[in-house]
Amino acid sequence: MNYAEDSAGPAVGLDLGTSRIVVARGREQKCSCEAQLNAFITVPHTRLTAALLAQENVFHFPQGPDLVVAGSDAQKFAEVFHVELRRPMVHGLLNPQEPHSLAVVRQILTRLVGTAAREKQRLAFSIPAPPAGGGDTALAYHEASVRRILTELGYDCRPVEEGLAVVYGELALTNYTGIAISFGGGLSNVCLAVLSLPVWSFSLPKAGDFIDAHTALATGERAARIRVQKEQAFQFNGFTADRVYNALSVYFEEVMQSVAEELARACARHLPRLDQAIPVVLSGGSALPGGFLDRFRGVLESADLPVPISEVQLAPEPLWSTAKGALVAASL
Ligand SMILES: Nc1ncnc2c1ncn2[C@@H]1O[C@H](COP(=O)(O)OP(=O)(O)OP(=O)(O)O)[C@@H](O)[C@H]1O
Ligand SMILES: [Mg+2]
Repeated sequence: MNYAEDSAGPAVGLDLGTSRIVVARGREQKCSCEAQLNAFITVPHTRLTAALLAQENVFHFPQGPDLVVAGSDAQKFAEVFHVELRRPMVHGLLNPQEPHSLAVVRQILTRLVGTAAREKQRLAFSIPAPPAGGGDTALAYHEASVRRILTELGYDCRPVEEGLAVVYGELALTNYTGIAISFGGGLSNVCLAVLSLPVWSFSLPKAGDFIDAHTALATGERAARIRVQKEQAFQFNGFTADRVYNALSVYFEEVMQSVAEELARACARHLPRLDQAIPVVLSGGSALPGGFLDRFRGVLESADLPVPISEVQLAPEPLWSTAKGALVAASL
């Protein structure tokens, strides 16, 4: 089936993540993905700096008295200029504490997604599931703000919950039946779907940022530094002499435990009648470290879920799953 095209032209999938924004285009099995870091820095606006950034082809724009360097370029320049990397989103939503949040997301989307190729081109963007424990979030504001930007760019856009997007992206072989988990930056998102329909979903504010912040607290290092070490070299291989790696394992374990416990609670509350065992698929940047899959299999076994699981698998490209699934959602 070719999901990705209709009279309004090829559809677009957008993963609007706390840590990275990813766009997927093309046909479902052969789509191509492109990403920008969802981050920025500000530097004082002088004509010289603006000219130099333009000359070096660095993604930047003026904002009040400042120049904003945004997207993946921001990381490099944060180190060069010794300034703190700032983030427009926190826990899956626009960051209410960050005055530049909307302007930065608008610029990154304009650069990454661009204007619609045709009028009313379809686009689906990921949003987080409701928090596991209930409670208010600013999801309505977040969704309306993103919708507005994308509508101005000419898209016919709709939201898709992150967990369901991962079901669409990774569980075609089981007719979109199974449990999808995205271990992201700001959140872990979980969804049980049967024949493409969501049965329940939830999010937990425990993922990569939680791991970085708590490891930083435990070791006295900066969270930004921890994140780099984690992404470059961390894997699960037992006790080491390195206290950062040991702290990282402790907090990765806590994320896995919390997700598994909440998953067990959700299954206990509501489980549809299932004829056969269902798969669990893991995605998201925080599922990347070597040994994560085996460790999570162990955690799920101990959680003793009241649902027969056929297999626990890692998505082939965990960083692209949500965008790929959003591309499918855009075409439904
Ligand atoms: N190789 C790696 N090892 C460990 N963690 C990694 C690795 N690569 C990326 N990460 C972590 O993955 C997280 C980002 O994952 P992802 O891009 O799936 O999140 P997101 O979609 O932006 O966020 P969210 O879904 O929570 O809104 C960050 O915390 C990042 O540090
Ligand atoms: Mg995500």
